[in-house]
Amino acid sequence: SQAEKGGFPHFMLKEIYEQPEAIRDTLRGRLDPESGRVDLSDAALSPEFFEGLRKIFFVACGTSYHAGLVGKYLLEALAGIPVEVDLASEFRYRDPLVDEGTLAVVISQSGETADTLAGLRLARDKGARVLGIVNVLGSTIAREAHRVIYTHAGPEIGVASTKAFTSQLTVILLLALYLGGLSGRLSPERARLLARELVEFPGLLQKLIPKVHPLLKELSEHYFRQENFLYLGRNILFPVALEGALKLKEISYIHAEGYAAGEMKHGPIALIEESVPTVALAPRESGVVYEKMVSNIEEVRSRRGPVLAFGTQGDEHLAGLSTDFVGLPPVSWEISPLLYTVPLQLFAYEMAVRRGCDVDQPRNLAKSVTVE
Ligand code: G6P
Repeated sequence: SQAEKGGFPHFMLKEIYEQPEAIRDTLRGRLDPESGRVDLSDAALSPEFFEGLRKIFFVACGTSYHAGLVGKYLLEALAGIPVEVDLASEFRYRDPLVDEGTLAVVISQSGETADTLAGLRLARDKGARVLGIVNVLGSTIAREAHRVIYTHAGPEIGVASTKAFTSQLTVILLLALYLGGLSGRLSPERARLLARELVEFPGLLQKLIPKVHPLLKELSEHYFRQENFLYLGRNILFPVALEGALKLKEISYIHAEGYAAGEMKHGPIALIEESVPTVALAPRESGVVYEKMVSNIEEVRSRRGPVLAFGTQGDEHLAGLSTDFVGLPPVSWEISPLLYTVPLQLFAYEMAVRRGCDVDQPRNLAKSVTVE
């Protein structure tokens, strides 16, 4: 009903707007911005649980899998632990190299996804420690994991995951800060700076969402008739490109592919023409990969492909190169997946609405996939 949607036309839009609050709830009591210290005692986690850890395996499906991919970038960089990421449906059938030195991190909004649950059981049987990142309290995955960090995003009704994803990213950032501190790889100064930025992030997002929403709605007017999209990102924003493309295809039924921009030459560039727009993620703060993204955008433009670029506000160079430009505030590398995800959700939402799609209940999809 309208009341349940809190005045929003769809649950998905309500849940997009709830993200600042959801992230605040995820962080609550777990991060001290003064010291930069992370406290995961609500999940019964202490340094002993991580003793002798040699490898981390993220196992998940769908959007939750994309959170795992971001986790690889974060944990390897901040904590220096080798990370593998697997789709649960692959992991469970391939006899993965898992042993007592492995931490399996199983990510699931619902806590009921059949393949993810099977992956959890396999990892546990092979002697791994299993940590769940779960939204639904008391769900099967939450009960069967050795430990669980709840995302506390609140109930998510829209089939396409939004606030659960950004809450998962937040938990993974907390885990990276925690393990970075334990390993000594993350300096206390850097931890403090990141903690402060993370605590301030919900406020930033709260101001940003109502500001960029009208712009994305307007842009959807230019793009909604297209049937093929390419989403490009690099480094930690590569999984965000995958997630952006997944959102668009899930709810608007537009074919969209996420690609690592460096792979463009190995296939997708063959598709570029006037009727195939590219969504490019190119924050100026991303160092060497910024220049690489700029080259990729030039390559698309020279083949007459339209480019909708998301980058750092005030980046006139990028804005000039692109067909359309959405400027976002500068943030640290670690926080950038959280930030860049949100306008892509709004874009997918507005595209689906213009196409008259059933945003909250897309055809053929289920909120929770409890059978294989
Ligand atoms: C379904 C949902 C997706 C979700 C995926 C994994 O496909 O439609 O939104 O990402 O399942 O679900 P989980 O509950 O395990 O995160």
